[in-house]
Amino acid sequence: MNNELVDVIVKSRTEQGAGVAVIELVSADGKPLPPFSAGAHIDVHIGDDLIRQYSLCSDPVSSDIYRIGVLRDPKSRGGSVKLHAEFSEQQIISISFPRNHFPLNENAQKSILAGGGIGITPMIAMAYTLLRKNEDFELHYCTRTKGAGAFEQELVDTFGKRVVFHHDDEGKSQLFSPQTTFKPVDVNTHIYVCGPTGFMDWVISSASEMGYLPAQIHSEYFNAQVDKTGESFEVYCEQSDVTVMVGSDETIARALRKAGIKVNMSCEEGVCGTCITDVLEGEPEHRDHFLTDEEKADNDQMALCCSRAKSSRLVIDL
Ligand code: FES
Repeated sequence: MNNELVDVIVKSRTEQGAGVAVIELVSADGKPLPPFSAGAHIDVHIGDDLIRQYSLCSDPVSSDIYRIGVLRDPKSRGGSVKLHAEFSEQQIISISFPRNHFPLNENAQKSILAGGGIGITPMIAMAYTLLRKNEDFELHYCTRTKGAGAFEQELVDTFGKRVVFHHDDEGKSQLFSPQTTFKPVDVNTHIYVCGPTGFMDWVISSASEMGYLPAQIHSEYFNAQVDKTGESFEVYCEQSDVTVMVGSDETIARALRKAGIKVNMSCEEGVCGTCITDVLEGEPEHRDHFLTDEEKADNDQMALCCSRAKSSRLVIDL
C-alpha cells in the first residue's frame, strides 16, 4: 500500500441536494494526479488527526480532477461537519493515493448499481466507466425525497434512461425493490451497493435470498456500528516480540498502542481496511465489514481496530 500523501487544491466547492458538498480537487504541484479506477476512494486529511475516506465520483478518464461528495452528518464522528465548516476553494489539503477495494468485475455481462443517499458516489464513477465501454448496466439512486440527492441533473444528462430514481415519499410504484430490479437471476449479472448500513444489509440479503452468489454481490460500507467488546485474550506480535493482553472493553489496536506498537488506523469501524494485518496463529473473531466472507473464513488476516479472538491467543505479523 502506498502511504505517501498527495497535496491537492480545492478547485471548486458546490452545495447540492440536502447537505452534500461536492468538491473538486486538482494537483497542487502541477503534476498529474495518480490514476484511479471506478470504485476507488481516497483518504482525506481533515485536520486534528481526522482522516476520512471518500469515494471518487468523477469520470476516471478525467484524472486531472478528483471529485468527492461529502454529506454533512451531525450524527457522525465529526469528520464531515469539520470538512463542511472548513474546506473552501483554493485551500490546500492532503489526501492519500487512490485505493480500490470496490472494483467493477470485468467479466460481468450486466451490472446493477444501487446507491442509497451519498452511497451514489462510487456508482457514478462506475457508471461513467461502464458507459464508455458500452456495457449493459442500470444505475438506481435511492433517496428519501425528490431533490434531496446530489448529482441528479448530471446523472439524467449523462446516463439517460439507464438511471432510475427512487424516493421514499413518492408512492409505492417507484420504490426500490431488489426483488424486481435483480430479476432474472443470472450468473453473469453483478450487483454493486453502497449507502447507509441498513440499506446495504437489506439489498445484500435480498440478492442472496434470490440466489445471487457472494461473488456477484459487491459492497462498500461507509461506516458501521460495531460492537468491539468481548472476552479478554492475548496477542503476540511476532516481528516486535511483544505480548499484550487485550481487555474486554479495548481493541487490539488500542492495547498495542499502549505497549508502544503503532497500528495504522483510519475509520476505526472496520470499514476502510487500513488496519488489516496478517494472522499467523490463532482464530480471529471478525467484526469488520471490510473483508469478504471468503477472506474471513481463511482466518489469515484481520482488522485490528475492531475484531477480536475466538482462541485465547493470536499471533500477528507486526
Ligand atoms: S481502521 Fe479502518 S478497518 Fe480498521
